[in-house]
Amino acid sequence: MQRQLHLNLFINSRGHHEASWRHPDATPYALTDIRYFQDMAQRAEAALFDSVFLADILALVEGVEHGPHIWLEPMTMLGALAVSTSKIGLVATCSSTYTEPYNLARQFASLDHMSKGRVAWNIVTSSLASSARNFGGGPQISHDDRYARGEEFMKVVTALWDSWAEDAIVDDRTSGVYAHADRIRPINHRGDFYQVAGPLNVPRCPQGRPVLIQAGSSATGRSFAARHAEAIFTAQLSKLDAQEFYADIKTQTAAAGRRPDQVLILPGLSPMIAGTETEARRLAHEVDDLTDAETGRKRLSGWLGGYDLSHVPLDRPLRPGDLPHPDTVQAARSRAEIIATLASRENATLRDVIAYFAAARGHYTMAGTPEQIANLIEDWFTDGAADGFNLMPPLLPTMLDAFSAEVIPLLQRRGLFRTAYEGGMLRDHYGLNQPPSNW
Ligand SMILES: Cc1cc2nc3c(=O)[nH]c(=O)nc-3n(C[C@H](O)[C@H](O)[C@H](O)COP(=O)(O)O)c2cc1C
Repeated sequence: MQRQLHLNLFINSRGHHEASWRHPDATPYALTDIRYFQDMAQRAEAALFDSVFLADILALVEGVEHGPHIWLEPMTMLGALAVSTSKIGLVATCSSTYTEPYNLARQFASLDHMSKGRVAWNIVTSSLASSARNFGGGPQISHDDRYARGEEFMKVVTALWDSWAEDAIVDDRTSGVYAHADRIRPINHRGDFYQVAGPLNVPRCPQGRPVLIQAGSSATGRSFAARHAEAIFTAQLSKLDAQEFYADIKTQTAAAGRRPDQVLILPGLSPMIAGTETEARRLAHEVDDLTDAETGRKRLSGWLGGYDLSHVPLDRPLRPGDLPHPDTVQAARSRAEIIATLASRENATLRDVIAYFAAARGHYTMAGTPEQIANLIEDWFTDGAADGFNLMPPLLPTMLDAFSAEVIPLLQRRGLFRTAYEGGMLRDHYGLNQPPSNW
């Protein structure tokens, strides 16, 4: 069978463009109304997407006066989505730095049961200094330490998910036996960061373990992904960058003793779609014109770990020293690298970088016809740049609907995308094996 493309819908605000919330075509729902998220997930399910994804940041980010940088807590939302969809995979972000592994293992195991095996965890280490201030108030934990802690965190949650044998529950009313106690065992973990006795108080979940997704692209993030991730979200500025990332991850995955086809690489794609390229560009400009540059400046500063950009003029070409070197950024280092690349483009100004980030926060954007979008997807997919895409519509639901109605049928005709769901679990959609039980 022909290799199949994977599509995830990333639901964010009223679309991924910073100014989408103001656009008349964007959803009329309030962003605190769960019906909006249910509606998006149901539309994505009708279009046969593999999954929907909710991001998370553990602080109120800059600029709420000019943009709805708010969202409901993702795991809570997955509970609602689990019962209002029946096929599509459900991905929530949760930080390994600011929660306890026992809580997280339990919540995701519960969600996997509730959704009958459709849940994934987007593992993040939480890059923002503002998040650190909400958890203990100490200084931000360094990039390396966050990943070191994350490594031990993975060991603990995996052991907890494996602490029940698949056949541990008997539930026999006649004999009075509910479970085989000898098929449930403690984990007795004692490490540098965590002491966890176990076992989990939730039985083994339908997928064995929730699908593990990762989204950090720094050198440390990549090697973490090669060891743990079954799918990777990533922001890439060009096909060439995406190919380099793809090859590196697949090589590192093999070196870590895992099958490269068991790690899906899903770069972000934010397409503005219209009948002609000119119309698509006009639409993109229309949304750009709603953007507030000073809010963008604050947001960029946030991505750079709070680096002060207030003195940098918006319209003169950027100079060395205007922005920090990515290696010195303790926040989202891979995003700092993208910012540095954008800034090094000829005559790039701060306003240019802000505009690029406003469109989709450093992910690949394009404006074009359905045919052009499908061609790009096919090209990246067949030429070693992607196993699928993390679709980030600039406006929701309009650009999701345009993608579903006009781009997906082209991909289906080319034999690249499913015409029906084949299995019931997210592992089935993604083509991932069940993790072997240790029992
Ligand atoms: C598509 C995508 C989604 C992400 N979602 C989140 C998120 O919800 N919360 C978060 O703290 N970081 C998120 N990140 C950031 C990374 O997970 C990571 O924490 C950050 O890039 C720092 O890691 P790095 O320095 O290895 O890149 C996301 C990144 C990508 C590419």
